[in-house]
Amino acid sequence: MISLVFHPDERLVTPAKPLEKIDASTQELTTRMIETMQNSHGIGLAGPQVGRMERLFVVQVPEDEPRVFINPRITALSPDVGKYEEGCLSIPGVYADIKRPLALTVEAWDPRGKAFTLDAEGLLARVILHENDHLEGVLFIDYLPARRRERLMRSYRPPGEAM
Ligand code: NI
Repeated sequence: MISLVFHPDERLVTPAKPLEKIDASTQELTTRMIETMQNSHGIGLAGPQVGRMERLFVVQVPEDEPRVFINPRITALSPDVGKYEEGCLSIPGVYADIKRPLALTVEAWDPRGKAFTLDAEGLLARVILHENDHLEGVLFIDYLPARRRERLMRSYRPPGEAM
């Protein structure tokens, strides 16, 4: 299990850098990120959330396999948007309805260095967009109007100790 980075933290608002080489250490990192995500009962985890400022994330929605996205690029977004309640392992206990496109196409590399293209919709598309935002230093609470965000965050306290 890798220690999680909790909001507020500079690493969560800083854009991540492209991974230049996919090798055995990438496989080890993404395997550990998947374990950390599963142990934390999350459905997505991005590099910056474990202090790795690299453009990669892992996701696993119910009844699906874990999926790894390295240097992802969203190449298409559906015009249709919908609201869904989101949370984030880096902001425990905070949830809010966020509007996002309902479907997308993403291109990325897997941990073996193989490029792939995926069409996603529903929860999978939503998680991919949420995690991809982490690579840009964007959190889901950033989409909320300032006053609503302040109200929502009033009772938030970051966990005292990293896990
Ligand atoms: Ni998150």
